[in-house]
Amino acid sequence: MTLSIRPLTPDDEPFLWEMLFQAIHVPDGHPPLSREVLNLPELARYVRGWGREGDCGFLAAAGKPIGEPVGAVWLRVLGGEDRGFGYVAEDTPELSIALLPEFRDRGIGTQLLSRLFAAPCGDTPVSLSVSTDNPAVRLYRRFGFEVVGESGDSLTMLRSANS
Ligand SMILES: CC(C)(COP(=O)(O)OP(=O)(O)OC[C@H]1O[C@@H](n2cnc3c(N)ncnc32)[C@H](O)[C@@H]1OP(=O)(O)O)[C@@H](O)C(=O)NCCC(=O)NCCS
Repeated sequence: MTLSIRPLTPDDEPFLWEMLFQAIHVPDGHPPLSREVLNLPELARYVRGWGREGDCGFLAAAGKPIGEPVGAVWLRVLGGEDRGFGYVAEDTPELSIALLPEFRDRGIGTQLLSRLFAAPCGDTPVSLSVSTDNPAVRLYRRFGFEVVGESGDSLTMLRSANS
């Protein structure tokens, strides 16, 4: 598989809505969610109006020559009344990441995170929220995220800046 990774642009917002849907963790044995959930303000705030100041992320595409989008990682500062699930501070961006189901567990998420944290915009404290039973917790720990809070069945994790 040929994989390419490039920065997200405002034109990628439709794909980010799909990725936001894919990022919602559905525990084993639970029925699939309706896409209507994306209308919930607490979810929509992660993507709506993508491309505003502070937004930063990368898109993975598979195939040649340009490839079809298969996954993305993105950072957005969600403060004030727009606090996200992984809020730790007003100026700390929250990380979201997802791949289309058929592209998971093949190292692409690792490549996306490596690219993000090698970029200038990734050299900042970054937080996230993840379900306690989501296997992604292991991936986040490998990238230096540590648990800084727990609420119900969710963990808040924080990664320090690189330098
Ligand atoms: C999380 C995700 C982006 C990781 O990308 P990936 O390419 O699958 O990950 P890699 O192959 O680079 O690394 C493997 C690690 O990813 C995680 N992972 C693998 N499959 C996963 C899945 N279906 N769901 C969640 N995490 C998964 C595990 O931590 C795994 O580490 P392990 O081998 O020690 O168990 C991807 O699996 C995904 O889209 N999962 C569903 C959406 C999601 O849970 N997003 C995070 C919400 S907080």
